[in-house]
Amino acid sequence: MIKKIILSNFRNFSFFQSEFEKINIIKGKNGTGKTNLIEAIYFCLNGHPFFKNLNRVKKDLNKPTYLNANLINNTVHITINEENIKKIKLNGKLAKIIDLKKQFPCIDYSINSFISFKNKNYMFSLIDRGVFAQDKTIIDKVIEYKKLIKTKKSLIKENNINKKAIKILNEKLTETIKEISKKRVKLVESIKNDVYNCFNKFHKKKLNISYFEGKIRESTLKEELLKRKMFVSLKKDTLKITIDNMNMFYYSSVGEKKITLLCIVLAILKMYNSRGLLPIFLIDDLEGDLDIDVQEMAFEIIKSLPNQIFVTTLGLYNGYNVINLTEELQS
Ligand SMILES: Nc1ncnc2c1ncn2[C@@H]1O[C@H](COP(=O)(O)OP(=O)(O)OP(=O)(O)O)[C@@H](O)[C@H]1O
Ligand SMILES: [Mg+2]
Repeated sequence: MIKKIILSNFRNFSFFQSEFEKINIIKGKNGTGKTNLIEAIYFCLNGHPFFKNLNRVKKDLNKPTYLNANLINNTVHITINEENIKKIKLNGKLAKIIDLKKQFPCIDYSINSFISFKNKNYMFSLIDRGVFAQDKTIIDKVIEYKKLIKTKKSLIKENNINKKAIKILNEKLTETIKEISKKRVKLVESIKNDVYNCFNKFHKKKLNISYFEGKIRESTLKEELLKRKMFVSLKKDTLKITIDNMNMFYYSSVGEKKITLLCIVLAILKMYNSRGLLPIFLIDDLEGDLDIDVQEMAFEIIKSLPNQIFVTTLGLYNGYNVINLTEELQS
């Protein structure tokens, strides 16, 4: 649980501090910084912002940015200095992204990232967070995958291409991809029924969700060498979601997509919670595009969770610990 956050020179906040409780309602008009505050909390729990570009998080580019969070028994301090170098400290000691991720699991509901279908990163990271509840080695595997991709990228661009080195790297890479994909397939299979049951509380339509491994062919590997481009990657995998047999990403309404994502996220949370892990739940922009009764039902489910919750609102949810950013801007 996060008890307090202090931000300096972060996004639209020159300086901001707030204390938190179990249920936190982040309230404010458009553009007051609700998503930015969610991102700041995410940053403190993950060691990086939503998109890894550090430039964009600074308000004044010539000054350092600080994020400080007090959790129960832990403190996180993140600095981005004048040269844009990031330093993470966990309880006063230098730490890495992986240290935070392993210690402070969090699940974020972000409909904008979900809808942008081309950007599979959010979906895959959500699935990996689910896998993490069952199997912590997923983080090490994903890090290994990223390192292999980076090395391969530089090898493939070299003037005198080293085919032997690339061949060895490809073997390792395809093996790592297979391992990660298999874990993801298993995760999606294990949450399926919970997702369907949740969806049917809201809609009568039939939801279907499956993860498919991308195929790596010999010809793809040859094409890579020919074109000097990378084709072998986890991006060949797909998460297929259909509602009444139609591709959700192309055909469904925003409201249907929102409920689908909510149900996926809730199923992942349930799995964590059953293992006593209780991740922090960040919910950005759930209410817009949802019917009032659907909003009420969704909030009923969310507020009864044992997790610490942060939810942004234009003003609909009330009570609990309200962080009013409109008032903050005026003061
Ligand atoms: N690096 C930055 N420096 C200064 N301002 C920034 C920076 N990044 C984002 N902003 C500003 O922060 C403001 C708040 O953005 P944010 O997305 O958090 O608003 P919001 O309250 O979530 O709005 P909405 O209700 O529309 O979702 C925006 O006006 C944006 O221009
Ligand atoms: Mg927002």
